[in-house]
Amino acid sequence: MTLEGLTVVEVGPEAAETVVAIVHAAFGARPALDPPATALDETADTVRAALAEGGGLLATLDGRPVGSVLLVPEPESLLLRRVAVLPDAQHHGVAHAMAAKAELVARDLGMERTRCLARAELPGTVRFWLGQGYVEVAHDGTSLTMVKELPVVVPVPTAEEMHELGRRVAGLLHAGDVVVLTGELGAGKTTLTQGLGEGLGVRGGITSPTFVISRVHPPLGDGPALVHVDAYRLSGAVELDDLDLDVTVEDSVTVVEWGEGLAELLAEDRLEITLTRSVGGPEGPADPAPEARSARVVPVGARWVGAGLSRLVA
Ligand SMILES: Nc1ncnc2c1ncn2[C@@H]1O[C@H](COP(=O)(O)OP(=O)(O)OP(=O)(O)O)[C@@H](O)[C@H]1O
Ligand SMILES: [Mg+2]
Repeated sequence: MTLEGLTVVEVGPEAAETVVAIVHAAFGARPALDPPATALDETADTVRAALAEGGGLLATLDGRPVGSVLLVPEPESLLLRRVAVLPDAQHHGVAHAMAAKAELVARDLGMERTRCLARAELPGTVRFWLGQGYVEVAHDGTSLTMVKELPVVVPVPTAEEMHELGRRVAGLLHAGDVVVLTGELGAGKTTLTQGLGEGLGVRGGITSPTFVISRVHPPLGDGPALVHVDAYRLSGAVELDDLDLDVTVEDSVTVVEWGEGLAELLAEDRLEITLTRSVGGPEGPADPAPEARSARVVPVGARWVGAGLSRLVA
C-alpha cells in the first residue's frame, strides 16, 4: 500500500542528521532487548560514514521525513540495516515502500537478493519481513537472517523466445518443484511449458490441458516427469496430491496453470511465472505499437534462495 504523499528517495551523507534522528526515535521506542540493539549507539558521524559507503533511503510523508534505511552492497545481495519508521508514522505503508524501493536499488545494482537481520523477540518485525516475501535462512542467537530472492522480469518478444525461456527455467528445476503459470488466454503458457518439457527431457505432446485436469509427461532419460495441470477447472482449495496422479509431486516437476491469488494453496515453495501482453504502445490501447510480451518470475519460499534466477535473463 502506498499512501498519497509518501515518497522514498535514495540519499547520501548529506542526510545523516535526519537519518540518525529517525533511527533514535524508532529504535528508542522499541521494547528493551537483550542484548540491546546497537542502533541507539549510532551518531550522525557513524550514519554519515555508512551513507557515504553504501547510501540509504529516506521516506517522507507529506514532506516530513518519517523513515530511513542504511544500504550495504554485498557481492550478491543488498543488506538493509537500521530499517526505521517514526512511531507515529507506523502502519502507513512506510516500511513497505522502503522495502520495495530497496529491491529496485538492488536490481539496478545487478544483485540477486536483498537481505536483512531481524530480532527473534520482535514477532511483528519478523512477520513484516515474511509478508514482504523474505524467508529466514539463518538463526544466530536472537538474530534472524532474512533474505528475499528478487523477482526477475524477462522480455519475450517472440514465441521462440517464450520456448527458450521455458528451456532456461527447466535448467533451474529439479524433482519436487512446482511452477505456477498465470496469463490470459493465448498469453504463451503452453509455449513456455513446451520449452520447459524439452529442457527437462520429457516425452512431448504438451498441449493446453483444457479437456483434462492434468497430464503426465514421463521422462525420456533419468530426470523427473513433468506434470502439467490445468487448475482453472479445479474448484476451491485442492492439494496437488489429491489429484490422484500416478506420480507424486516429490518425484516430478509440476506446472500448474492457475488463476492469480490461489497459488499459495498449492505449494509453500513455488516459482510463480506471470505472462503479460501490453495492449498497444505508450500512447495507450489505440497505439499500434508492436505488442510487448514479458514474463515476471517470482520465487516464493526458501527453495529459491541462491537458485540463480538472473540466469533467466539472456
Ligand atoms: N512471446 C510470444 N510472442 C509472440 N507470440 C507468442 C509468444 N508466446 C506464444 N506466442 C504465440 O501465441 C499463441 C498462443 O500461445 P499459447 O498457446 O502458448 O498460449 P496459452 O497461454 O497456452 O493459451 P491458452 O490460454 O489458450 O491455453 C501461439 O500462436 C504462440 O505461438
Ligand atoms: Mg495453453
